[in-house]
Amino acid sequence: MCFERRIIFIVAVVSFLVPLCESAKVKKFPPYIQKCRQNDTDFQKCLYRALENIKPYLKDGIPELRLPKMSPLILPEVGIDAGAGFIARFENCEIYGADKFVIEKFDVSLEENKIKFDMSFPHIRIKARYYIFGKVMFFNLDGSGPADGNITDCRVIATMNGQRFYQQDKQYLKLTETIIEDIDFGKPNFQFYELFKNNPELTQQTNKILNANMVELLTDLRPTLEQVIGNTVLEFIGRVFQRFSIEELFPR
Ligand SMILES: *[C@@H]1O[C@H](CO)[C@@H](O)[C@H](O)[C@H]1NC(C)=O
Ligand SMILES: *[C@@H]1O[C@H](CO)[C@@H](O)[C@H](O)[C@H]1NC(C)=O
Repeated sequence: MCFERRIIFIVAVVSFLVPLCESAKVKKFPPYIQKCRQNDTDFQKCLYRALENIKPYLKDGIPELRLPKMSPLILPEVGIDAGAGFIARFENCEIYGADKFVIEKFDVSLEENKIKFDMSFPHIRIKARYYIFGKVMFFNLDGSGPADGNITDCRVIATMNGQRFYQQDKQYLKLTETIIEDIDFGKPNFQFYELFKNNPELTQQTNKILNANMVELLTDLRPTLEQVIGNTVLEFIGRVFQRFSIEELFPR
């Protein structure tokens, strides 16, 4: 397709709305968190079960683990500067359904300071305010308005790397990067409302054509999307490891 393939430079800004009333002093685990022992021969299976137990609580957040509400997950701003004169900005993104993941794999390797996961998301819904400027396929776009999107059967395979460090004689794992090995965008469908302010017909037609090519468009924007997803995951899982030492999370 004719979306500029020479897109090169990309910036993504992701930050979280930090829960305000997070208790700093009390460090305890909620009762539904099952701890997994490092020495357990079924360590990986234990992790899987523990995650399954935690899952229903992710929607509203888990203050004890410093995890914010996960549905909707709020990203205040996601910016895409794709070079070649194409700019998109999404403000106040509300992401629904990220808590309803299916774990295909979730391996924590304490020896290697790595977490490898493979997760699929049956249904994600995104609502945001968008601003788009530039050439996409054969459209010259310059519009803003509400955006609504559904993505079904998205899958992410990634590895997170970290480093050990000591704090008051306790060993912690600082997760430093997420490497996305593979992403399958599944079946995406988006609506950019008010794209051509006084022309609902053209807006509808354009949306139709954009959606017919959405998988390719997303693939072209993949480096940015990987960065956004990678940083989001890093922020989430990183918080847990920042708060608790390795021994506290995984006793011997
Ligand atoms: C767990 O493994 C460590 C070595 O990695 C060993 O020192 C310790 O005795 C083991 N603990 C149990 C309960 O097996
Ligand atoms: C997304 O799905 C919801 C129902 O789950 C529907 O109401 C909405 O119109 C859909 N939006 C798009 C852009 O497909």
